[in-house]
Amino acid sequence: MVSRKKGLLVSIEGIDGSGKSTLAASLVATLSSAGLPVLLTKEPGATQLGTILRALVQKKEMPICSKAEYLLFAADRAQHFEQIIIPALEQGKIIISDRMADSSLVYQGYGRGLDKTMITQVNSWTMNGITPDITIYVKVSAQTAFKRIIQRNAEFTSFEKEQAAFIERLIIGFDELFAARTNTVWCDGEQTPEHISDYAERSIISSWNAL
Ligand SMILES: Nc1ncnc2c1ncn2[C@@H]1O[C@H](COP(=O)(O)OP(=O)(O)O)[C@@H](O)[C@H]1O
Ligand SMILES: [Mg+2]
Repeated sequence: MVSRKKGLLVSIEGIDGSGKSTLAASLVATLSSAGLPVLLTKEPGATQLGTILRALVQKKEMPICSKAEYLLFAADRAQHFEQIIIPALEQGKIIISDRMADSSLVYQGYGRGLDKTMITQVNSWTMNGITPDITIYVKVSAQTAFKRIIQRNAEFTSFEKEQAAFIERLIIGFDELFAARTNTVWCDGEQTPEHISDYAERSIISSWNAL
């Protein structure tokens, strides 16, 4: 395998039920079968600490105020970068992360109404100033996401129990955030999983080849 100067950090973003985890799994399968050094990870919950934090924010079995909720995600992110992301970048991996900092900005900023400037600053601090090289945005309507969450047949997380108005704020947030960026790959999440994966894979490979 050819050694690279550095790795490639790819985040996958979108609302619950948009198809992020399906896409992440498919990308990892196709990129690794093409012989590329790929690593699948996620926020929250990729580390031992993160597993506990993920259960806290998803189950919400006690009152958790919006600031505390954000800081639990931030703690997960700090540990994720220290333990997984930074070492994998140094090893020259293609890192596919199922959600990252933009989810906090959108869910806790646009969704819960916390100060977006503060979230951006703390996110950057937890990430040692590193940002994703590419973000894959899987865009679906709230209706499609809702149907898929029901069909997925898993226990709902605290976020999947939120009202429709919250989900609409998330869609507005993701749209606004990514419209202002040049390194976002917009995927029409209403398409088939194969179509979405092929499209995202092409963008990742061209960024990888350009490194
Ligand atoms: N492009 C797609 N078309 C139809 N169904 C999909 C698509 N992508 C994912 N699904 C299904 O929708 C549900 C939610 O997908 P998932 O990948 O878990 O979403 P997320 O990780 O964004 O919450 C799953 O049951 C999955 O099989
Ligand atoms: Mg998922």
